[in-house]
Amino acid sequence: MPHRPIGIFDSGIGGLTVLSAARRRLPAESFVYLGDTARVPYGTKGPETVLRYAVQAASFLVEQGVKMLVVACNTAASVALPELARRFRLPVVGVIEPGADQACRLTRSGTVGVIGTEGTVASRAYDRAILRRRPRARVLSVPCPLFVPLAEEGWGEHPVAEICAREYLAPLIEAKIDTLVLGCTHYPLLKPVLQRLVGPEVRLVDSAEATAEVMASMLAADDAEFAGDRRGDVVFHVTDLPERFRRVGRPFFGAELDQVETADLATVAGRYSARAGRGLR
Ligand code: DGL
Repeated sequence: MPHRPIGIFDSGIGGLTVLSAARRRLPAESFVYLGDTARVPYGTKGPETVLRYAVQAASFLVEQGVKMLVVACNTAASVALPELARRFRLPVVGVIEPGADQACRLTRSGTVGVIGTEGTVASRAYDRAILRRRPRARVLSVPCPLFVPLAEEGWGEHPVAEICAREYLAPLIEAKIDTLVLGCTHYPLLKPVLQRLVGPEVRLVDSAEATAEVMASMLAADDAEFAGDRRGDVVFHVTDLPERFRRVGRPFFGAELDQVETADLATVAGRYSARAGRGLR
């Protein structure tokens, strides 16, 4: 078990921020990453569609023999986590609970802002996770759809990003949040702009880093961490355009992306939907 890789999936490139945090925290582990680049974005799609895609992506990774499944995509985690945990007999980690947990630890006033895709905000998954831990918290969630293409364009710190962020964050600044959850894989690339706008006293929660911590403690609790002294390797799979993934993904990962392969989820999806028999086709 400890020798098996960890599986991470995302709708595309963004999950590389989670993979990168996980590699820093767990350098000896090997990873299999799947980016569903043929169907990105998930953030503007409905929950049924995202759930179907998430089951297919998870099934692909489970077939690779992974020891843990990490749902790096906030949109997918916000709608699919309970179903994935029910279907697959392995530890399943999403980015929502770790991010909510850290927000509750950091906030003093209890007024927390959450930014994410339209799907994540509509699901209210962060709101529920925060309120479960801190029932008196005041949670304000705002979708910031333009941040995803801006980050992919390499414009995370461009004046255009600042103009958009000023609009999106206005109600959160007005409400005097003291903690801001970056509830989307792409938002860490806008960190300097976001911090500047909300002010230095507001704490930013990077769900990617919080998730890496949870992964480490779950592996330790299950005695499943790789104990040897090595640098683990990573294999990347994408459902479309591996060259674009390599090019656009580099700043998200912070290193070159070697070994990018093209995955066909259709065959995996067919087998699993037949077994599930619950309309997940
Ligand atoms: N990975 C998605 C998320 O974290 C952002 C991109 C998309 O909309 O698919 O919600």
